[in-house]
Amino acid sequence: INESETTEDGSTVNFTSYQREGLSGLDELRTWVAEVAELTQPDDVVWCDGSRGEFDRLTKQMVAEGKLIKLNPEWRPNSYLARSTPSDVARVEARTFIASEAEEDAGPTNNWAEPTEMRETLNSVFTGSMRGRTMYVVPFSMGPVGGPLSQLGVQVTDSAYAVVSMNIMTRMGDEVLNLIANGASWIKAYHSVGAPLQPGEQDVEWPCNDEKYIVQFPESREIWSYGSGYGGNALLGKKCFALRIASVMARDEGWLAEHMLLIRVTDPNGRAYHVAAAFPSACGKTNLAMLRPTIPGWKVETIGDDIAWLRPGDDGRLWAINPEAGFFGVAPGTGDSTNVTAVETLWGNTIFTNVALRDDGDVWWEGLTDTPPDHLIDWEGNDWTPDSGRPAAHPNSRFTVAAAQCPQMAPDWEADGGVPLDAILFGGRRATNVPLVVEASDWSHGVFMGATISSERTAAAEGTVGELRRDPFAMRPFCGYNMADHWSHWLSIGSKLRFDRAPRIYQVNWFRKGDDGRFLWPGFGENSRVLDWIAARLSGKVSAETTPIGRLPQLDDINLSGLDVTRDDLEELFSVNREGWLEEADLTEEFFQMFGAKVPAALRAELEALRYRLTKE
Ligand code: GTP
Ligand code: SPV
Ligand code: MN
Repeated sequence: INESETTEDGSTVNFTSYQREGLSGLDELRTWVAEVAELTQPDDVVWCDGSRGEFDRLTKQMVAEGKLIKLNPEWRPNSYLARSTPSDVARVEARTFIASEAEEDAGPTNNWAEPTEMRETLNSVFTGSMRGRTMYVVPFSMGPVGGPLSQLGVQVTDSAYAVVSMNIMTRMGDEVLNLIANGASWIKAYHSVGAPLQPGEQDVEWPCNDEKYIVQFPESREIWSYGSGYGGNALLGKKCFALRIASVMARDEGWLAEHMLLIRVTDPNGRAYHVAAAFPSACGKTNLAMLRPTIPGWKVETIGDDIAWLRPGDDGRLWAINPEAGFFGVAPGTGDSTNVTAVETLWGNTIFTNVALRDDGDVWWEGLTDTPPDHLIDWEGNDWTPDSGRPAAHPNSRFTVAAAQCPQMAPDWEADGGVPLDAILFGGRRATNVPLVVEASDWSHGVFMGATISSERTAAAEGTVGELRRDPFAMRPFCGYNMADHWSHWLSIGSKLRFDRAPRIYQVNWFRKGDDGRFLWPGFGENSRVLDWIAARLSGKVSAETTPIGRLPQLDDINLSGLDVTRDDLEELFSVNREGWLEEADLTEEFFQMFGAKVPAALRAELEALRYRLTKE
């Protein structure tokens, strides 16, 4: 082992100091990196240190290679635009696999792959897959480095875009290497875009492969991702680790890894409530996480916008952390009138992917401003004008930005133990049936609400947008084990909480529509009125109306001052159609059948009780 190693890009890793102290935690890592390099055959191996200098070198290099466009620093300092290949624009659920030893452990909502066969397949596609490229070694921490609830990983990747994105989305670099040197455990994450270069071959703007594999091995806690450079397929700390692998760790260790935002809501009297909310992809987490209340005196602070890890504490409460360090947020629909906090967050130091480029070197997407510029370069690199008849930004175009840049980030968002939850919200995109807000009567009713979420499909993954599908706990694409076991695990977590200290559970729906197809609820900042009602419930200030589907607000208890919503619309927002709900119950029974005997008895009982209330009461 050398005294120190200066990598190609000038960064230095000092191995000997660890060795001198008798710390050999890096040996396993170095052996593994050498093995992966032997398999994938890169031209160089670069150990990433996570520094600003490294970020600048990589972005500069990508600009020179035509893989990033540097935005005009006058409008958007230190910011870049990446444009992907049209076939690589979202997560690919059909190519995402859980390679558990037993098929039943993947469950019917995941694609299962036999692990030995899958290993063979992966070995074959990864063979020589990094030829002509650099392999980056990216040590990262999900959660603050060294935090008691944090987890470490190392991603090897041949994508510089993945490196700079991981730099924003996770705590990445030397500090993590230090922990590993000291013997901390870490998980292996393999990533290749699957586009080896022949000697002298010209690279493309966005290398990827038509054949894609996003594979999680839950028993060995490994991630292998091949063929895609986009988002959750490629930034392996995010969905692959912090949800699919972490959910398995959580099942085994008595905690939860969930697809949830995290906020602190403070009422005009200064009382604070911590709220987590699970909505499916592109259904409003980032927007609620960054909410600016429209009602006076209220404050919302952001803690996380996509993933939360929850743990029962000794005090009988459920404590939550955000394991991420950045936001990978949906761009379209983000504007001054919807999410001004996000607009302010994106002032600079941001990587945009698949948005449109303005003639002045800034970016634009649908919803950023009410009127589009007269001319743009669209996300595919073509000229665009307002009458082009197609969106200028891809519907799943995204921004990648550090959480610390959000002006309403809670000052203690990185606190070691996290925050104690007062309420958990489950929601989806439902044009019909589901009211604006419903309170569960107890934990198991709340788990039933989470288990039965259905939502209209969005552009965040491949598939037909608008199609209704079940998305239990908003975790259908992200649960690393059998979904019905996930429900049992939720029930068992509930039994570890103190009855009077467990968070209350709510179902919300910002997306109900009138017969004319218009949203009945203005949403966004106005969702603070729903938070106000939830806070009033939590503090015992208001009673609720018991209905067959749960507890609904009395309309007078919702703060409607200054709101432009008709009484008719409001009544429709809260109407409970018994026939519609009986149909939902039939569909739920059908859905439960997929899981056979694994459905927890408590949830079957909830379904029967729901039917009873709908027919007999
Ligand atoms: P992922 O990052 O994919 O997990 O998405 P997300 O759940 O964070 O969704 P996000 O907040 O980015 O919102 C997705 C889309 O829904 C955006 O186009 C938003 O403008 C829109 N949206 C968010 N909140 C509301 C709301 O309250 N009402 C309406 N009508 N639309 C909303
Ligand atoms: C989601 O789809 O829920 C996202 C985007 O947050 S991705 O990171 O691509 O999964
Ligand atoms: Mn998400």
